[in-house]
Amino acid sequence: MHEHWIRVEDVANRPYTETVELFREHINPGLVSLLEMGEYTDINPKSAHGAIITSHSGRKIIDFVSSYGALNLGHNHPHVMQAMQDVMAENRLDLSKELLSPYTAFLARNLSLLTPKGLNKIYFCNSGTEAVEAALKLASRCFKGTRPVFIYADNALHGKTIGALSVTGSLRLREHFPTMPAQSMPYGDSGALKQLLQKNSRDQHQQVAAVILEPIQGEAGVVIPPVGYLREVRKLCDEFDVLLILDEIQTGMGRTGTFLTCEQEEVVPDIIAMAKSLGGGVATIGATIASEKVFKTAYENPHDCLVQTSTFGGRATACAAAIAALEVLQDENLLENTGTRGKQLLSGLKALQQKYPQWISEVRGRGLMVGIEFNVDVIDKARYLPLKIPGLKTVLKEHLPGMVAAALLKQYDILGTLMLNNRAVLRVYPPLIVTEEQIAYFLDSLDNLLAQGPKELVKTRVNHAVGKSGLKFIGSWAKSFLRK
Ligand SMILES: Cc1ncc(COP(=O)(O)O)c(C=O)c1O
Repeated sequence: MHEHWIRVEDVANRPYTETVELFREHINPGLVSLLEMGEYTDINPKSAHGAIITSHSGRKIIDFVSSYGALNLGHNHPHVMQAMQDVMAENRLDLSKELLSPYTAFLARNLSLLTPKGLNKIYFCNSGTEAVEAALKLASRCFKGTRPVFIYADNALHGKTIGALSVTGSLRLREHFPTMPAQSMPYGDSGALKQLLQKNSRDQHQQVAAVILEPIQGEAGVVIPPVGYLREVRKLCDEFDVLLILDEIQTGMGRTGTFLTCEQEEVVPDIIAMAKSLGGGVATIGATIASEKVFKTAYENPHDCLVQTSTFGGRATACAAAIAALEVLQDENLLENTGTRGKQLLSGLKALQQKYPQWISEVRGRGLMVGIEFNVDVIDKARYLPLKIPGLKTVLKEHLPGMVAAALLKQYDILGTLMLNNRAVLRVYPPLIVTEEQIAYFLDSLDNLLAQGPKELVKTRVNHAVGKSGLKFIGSWAKSFLRK
């Protein structure tokens, strides 16, 4: 054994400061700086159950992020944990590509009972971006590679591997990477899609394989399309003989009040991508679910069947967890709870918007997929810029929801965070098991925080950031915003 080795049984007992410093040294120093500014690194997490994370010092933090929608059942749900542990305890075969696991088989069977009619062919992988990659490859494959173009929506987020990134509408994420041929369109505008499809159909080099969409855009800031949009997109895809891929990675598994969000418009896509909460918040699993017509172009014969595979995709432990997760959704009536608690949350936030119009410009949401859009100009009213740093105000505006999240954590023990593609929006994604009292506590806390006024918020956060990271760091950060 190496003389500096730390054994696995000792890891949990090491001082937490070592964890933070090891992240800084070996993993992601930029992220550590960001988390330090929000005082997230002050929390040494000990355990997590349901909606609550408990720290070593005994702080009980309510999770209103749910790991971006991966914890719809809350943390460490006992039924999901038990299902995985049963597979392990009996030394059942977890991982083999040659020997077929009944857990993979029965997950496919059970999952296809819940998906729209006709969508019952499934490829299992380990993450959202992989599920999207497989969907894009399946669509290309379906047209034998003759259709090079994908259409996606502005501000969409479908993942960070090159294929999924090519249909992700964020310059910040895309810059410096080569991407596949893809064209963007405004989200929610079926007329714009029609024009794009018409234009492409006249050019033999711009043939479109598929349109990929989130039924409600998550990282764009919870953007809900007009009623009927998905149906119109489906119609256009049929008219132009183009496939429709719906990314339900964030909107699926009950987040918006139905198992899949496409059910709400009775739209049946050709391919659905799922991940996040499919593993019940315990296992890592993604799935690409397709119709027979599409699927058979990829997996029907021994020659082609290994074109898209994944070493760990569909392992028994993850599939057992997913079967159990689907059971929890049904057994605990979580769709119903999502509807009721979602209404409570949304109406409470709308009341806060009326009370604090200088702070909140819009509240959007369906079920428990909710975003609060802040009026970033409230920063101008703070009249607190103690430092003569050019660009500081821009940084503060960009980080307003981040500052609100940091204050919620520090003062009220609520875990919140912002959105990847829209920095004006605070994500409000409690787990679907959230209680009436927890939602009421969140609303009261936000009310109290906003009542303190913008100056208080800016003052506390700026002073903390300068104290932690130093003036020089803040200055160079501000400069990077000015360069943009
Ligand atoms: C809608 C959507 N699609 C795809 C992804 C990528 O999923 P993963 O991070 O598991 O690769 C995400 C992640 O946030 C997402 O929100």
